[in-house]
Amino acid sequence: KRVLSVASEAVPLVKTGGLADVVGALPGALLPQGWHMRVMIPAYPGVLDRIGAGDPVWGADNFFGGTARVCLGQVGETSVLALDAPHLYDRPGGPYGDSRGEYWDNAERFAALSWAAAVIAREGVEGWKPEVVHAHDWQAGLLPAFLRYWNSGIPTVMTIHNIAFQGRFGPMKMGPMRLPPEWFQREGYEFWGDISTLKAGLMAADAITTVSPRYAEELMRGEFGLGLEGVMQLRSGVVEGILNGVDTAVWDPAGDRGAYPYSVSRLAGKARNRKALLAEFGLDPDLTGPLAVVVSRLTAQKGIDLVHQAIPDFVAGGGALAVLGTGDAWAEDQMRELAWRYPGRVGVRIGYDEALSHQMFAGGDAVLVPSRFEPCGLTQMYGLRYGCVPVVSAVGGLADTVIGATPASEAAGAATGIVFHPVDALGLRQALHKLLALHADRAGWQAMVRRGMKADWSWNRSAARYAALYDRLIGA
Ligand code: ADP
Ligand code: GLC
Repeated sequence: KRVLSVASEAVPLVKTGGLADVVGALPGALLPQGWHMRVMIPAYPGVLDRIGAGDPVWGADNFFGGTARVCLGQVGETSVLALDAPHLYDRPGGPYGDSRGEYWDNAERFAALSWAAAVIAREGVEGWKPEVVHAHDWQAGLLPAFLRYWNSGIPTVMTIHNIAFQGRFGPMKMGPMRLPPEWFQREGYEFWGDISTLKAGLMAADAITTVSPRYAEELMRGEFGLGLEGVMQLRSGVVEGILNGVDTAVWDPAGDRGAYPYSVSRLAGKARNRKALLAEFGLDPDLTGPLAVVVSRLTAQKGIDLVHQAIPDFVAGGGALAVLGTGDAWAEDQMRELAWRYPGRVGVRIGYDEALSHQMFAGGDAVLVPSRFEPCGLTQMYGLRYGCVPVVSAVGGLADTVIGATPASEAAGAATGIVFHPVDALGLRQALHKLLALHADRAGWQAMVRRGMKADWSWNRSAARYAALYDRLIGA
């Protein structure tokens, strides 16, 4: 059985966030379920070389202002279709923009991705024709829409990884995006007088998934639906929450190349990683309190301002903090300011560093994820697997994956982390207070660390649910 998965990023080729981890992991997770998934992404610089692309399997002149071809290649076990359209994707910056901001033509760039994918889904390439098409986020939102507008009959799944990004553009982009004007209406892609590619996908897809059950519920409310709650309510009959998993081949404390290996039965390596991490960030080598880490985009979604407000108390109580991230200037500044104010206790690395991110989970005692909303979140699951206890807000996938320490859960020996609510500075401050207390009780702490490491958040369960969904769509 064949499924085409289409997105703007995929590990290990291009990544700005969790979307890439998930798109990169799904093919491997689905294979044992009997579904062969190909991944289609734009051919950003370096992608064609990386996948050892062969001759083009598809081509078009006059393609959104230039010429395009699709090349088939391979990363590991995964077949990749790369859309090579240099006028759209061959740029030195990131996938969505550069130092001057977002690219001016993102509407066209991702309409083009969806268009090419839709054509390929309809016609097949070299005898490979998908039975199901799976679109991720606003960048692929027009894929289910085009297939619907063309009456293709191919079943589609639209996955929401983050509803905050809605692919909203002014109506003058209709022509350049090749959108049929007759669908500029409520049942189509029209959204408050604008175009929304995500809405287009949500209205057109046969099935909608989000990346956690809790987020699926939250999206029905304005607070989390961010304007699309009406659409979600309208389509609630086909909405399902399927948790992301951890790619255990990539995230494995026993097999990580950048850190001392350890496991639930041999935790000694973790202490060495902690020492190394303290040194890496210039922190007090004799720290006895907990070493908290943040590995995150530095944005309001991730509650970075709450970290800024809550850390002084935590430091006063004996804790330390190491931060790795990039993002909004104000948030980067807040983190730098903490480092400046608390030398030896707070260390900050502004940047994106995959290898260091592994070392942070390996060396940290706790990972802070105080998000205001979190569709799924992966770092709390990496934390669990690495014995780096998650301290999370009670939203979305965070609430679905971490069992918070309460008198009841502790009595039952079930807690795997700290879950706090409401999501504000006081909430986080109290959570960090609890972290200090739990960490001071050595035996209890070790037990919680081990429990988290044993929790199974691998892809097995979730891959089976995607497979069952695809099967349903093809009537199997
Ligand atoms: P989101 O996709 O909303 O950013 P997730 O928790 O789903 O949040 O995924 C974030 C992913 O990006 C994780 O794999 C995390 O380790 C990684 N990441 C975030 N910031 C950095 C960084 N500065 N350096 C390395 N990896 C990072
Ligand atoms: C988005 C969400 C994050 C989720 C990721 C992968 O980036 O913000 O919560 O884990 O997508 O689905």
